[in-house]
Amino acid sequence: MEEVQKTLSSSPLYNDEKPPQRKISCFRRHRYRTLAAVAGTIALLGITLGVGLGVGLTNSGDAPKSTSTVSADRRSASPDATASQASGCQAGSLNLLGGLVMANTTPLWQPLPGTPWQIVLSQPIDATKALVPALSVYDIDMYGNTALTIQQMHLQGIRVICYFSAGSWEAYRPDAGLFSYQDLGNNLNGWPGEKWLNTQSKGVRDIMANRIKLAAEKGCDAVDPDNLDGFETNTGFPLTASTALDYLTFLSVTAASYNMAIGLKNAGPIATNATCLVEFSIIESCISNSECSIYQNFIAAGKPVFQIEYPLGAPGYVTSQALSRSCKTNGNVGYSEIIKGKDLGGWVEYCDGTVFNTATY
Ligand SMILES: *[C@@H]1O[C@H](CO)[C@@H](O)[C@H](O)[C@H]1NC(C)=O
Repeated sequence: MEEVQKTLSSSPLYNDEKPPQRKISCFRRHRYRTLAAVAGTIALLGITLGVGLGVGLTNSGDAPKSTSTVSADRRSASPDATASQASGCQAGSLNLLGGLVMANTTPLWQPLPGTPWQIVLSQPIDATKALVPALSVYDIDMYGNTALTIQQMHLQGIRVICYFSAGSWEAYRPDAGLFSYQDLGNNLNGWPGEKWLNTQSKGVRDIMANRIKLAAEKGCDAVDPDNLDGFETNTGFPLTASTALDYLTFLSVTAASYNMAIGLKNAGPIATNATCLVEFSIIESCISNSECSIYQNFIAAGKPVFQIEYPLGAPGYVTSQALSRSCKTNGNVGYSEIIKGKDLGGWVEYCDGTVFNTATY
């Protein structure tokens, strides 16, 4: 997340129960993530259920043809891809540690490349009236917004991506006290009081599984787990690109078990390997860092890249020079670019110069 001002709002609270336990190793998947719920140690080989319940275990290429689409009322206004459009990710073999396999074969929400969007993390959205901009995708804070707000957004044809930090500890979150002291690492640069997490820890993963469950209970269509890029800095833990992919796989499978999509936030070094684990990418400042092209494989795979630039003057007034600098094309063809202030409030500008202020509480 590097420079994003993350949410300050925290409207508690949920009494979270113990999250479902899942031990799942890395696997590659198609758009149908297979959920493995571990409950034993049965080795599974090439199971195929033909009952409209296809287990993607040894699928070589063909995803089960979609039976149901995710609640039609919610996707009517969304330019979603069909199952076959998000190509580039082959179904692979699922390496189970063993156990019962539960297959979730409902196709996940797959937004199309170029889908316009808005992100508001620092305040709760006020969706009691028609939101502006009238777009089909919003990214909002998972804790800061209520199930009612998300319901109101759905009624406006909006798909809701729910943000939470999966790789850092934030003191003000309602579940902050659940983390073990040993799982808290170094401070994040520029974020006083926020610490890197040991994302290899079972305790951390249990808490994150609970956050994903909470996102599902609130009605989120997808999750935006931030701070998976700790391996690029000194977290205090031996995190690597490989552990980040393992953690992302865990988050991805858990989200899919609730029929929620998931995105990759930044983390350029794992972008290629992560493409098939997620439905979209959310990136910050790729123009100012001249690194947009790292994420082009998402577009090739039929998945959007939601791009944020933070020029001087935002939020409020961005000069036309600053706007054109942020909006120049440099490896970001096909991306869904927006101009935001680092506070990530309701203000947003698009590269055509239109400005909106999304209503917040
Ligand atoms: C990414 O994928 C490539 C090709 O499959 C593989 O060689 C590499 O080890 C992977 N990287 C990580 C960090 O897993």
